[in-house]
Amino acid sequence: MASEPFDKRSGWIWYDGAFVPWQDAQVHVLTHGLHYGSCVFEGERAYGGEIFKLDEHTARLRESARILDFELPYSDAEINAASRELLARMNLKDAYLRPVAWRGSDMMGVSAQNNQIHLAIAAWEWPSYFDPAQRLKGIRIDEAKYRRPDPQTAPSTSKAAGLYMICTISKHAAERNGYADALMLDWRGRVAECTGANVFFVKDGVIHTPEADAFLNGITRQTVIELAKRRGIVVIERAIMPEELADFDECFITGTAAEVTPVSEIAGRFHYQPGPVTRTLMDDYMAEVQPKKAAA
Ligand SMILES: Cc1ncc(COP(=O)(O)O)c(C=O)c1O
Repeated sequence: MASEPFDKRSGWIWYDGAFVPWQDAQVHVLTHGLHYGSCVFEGERAYGGEIFKLDEHTARLRESARILDFELPYSDAEINAASRELLARMNLKDAYLRPVAWRGSDMMGVSAQNNQIHLAIAAWEWPSYFDPAQRLKGIRIDEAKYRRPDPQTAPSTSKAAGLYMICTISKHAAERNGYADALMLDWRGRVAECTGANVFFVKDGVIHTPEADAFLNGITRQTVIELAKRRGIVVIERAIMPEELADFDECFITGTAAEVTPVSEIAGRFHYQPGPVTRTLMDDYMAEVQPKKAAA
């Protein structure tokens, strides 16, 4: 049930090395991760019972934690095994997985040297409703007021919970204006990404996408770049200025949740047609995420 609050659902959550009943997976209010944002997470998707790019997601979780100056207390193999076992226990095939790691309650202050690191993994059903006709209409996105911070100001390349503050504020503002999402610039005023997805543009059959030097280099982004190159489509990663937005023919966003989603409009000023490049990559991405059959 989509509307059921997340803390009231049932099933299992892997929590610090054991499977606990869903509603027992609690944290104390005096948790460092809650007060000081010492928390990192992943968003993963399983298709047909197989978690897409699990190794890459686990590696990114570890790197996100390292950037926040903590180590995950489990190996990649343990985390991957727990994720797969969780899916099986929950009897999920098409699902979203949310690993999250945070500093606990042992110390309460900016210094958190002795805090235990906790790790939990939850999963819930999330079918991939892939109706190309519907999706090809594209989404409308607004411009965000907040900018992605300078990597010298914040741990910009970590999937750290605290960085989502400005994403939620920006997404709420966009939704109030009737848009689905918001396009964020970086601190230099360059086009960066959306609140939970990377952005791509197409001009004359060539893909242009912002260099991922101040925001999350999405796993879907990297996959789509690889898929485009496999097709012989030229991909240019470069600084893109907002003044250029009027010049592009197509625009799409990528992310674990968004997959490849065309954009039809930015802030009422720029309009795009989901064209051949977007359509090709939507199809190629959906083919790529399907479980790989073991060789006979
Ligand atoms: C801010 C942000 N950018 C980009 C992405 C896309 O990343 P990925 O393709 O790894 O899901 C996400 C989603 O995780 C995100 O939250």
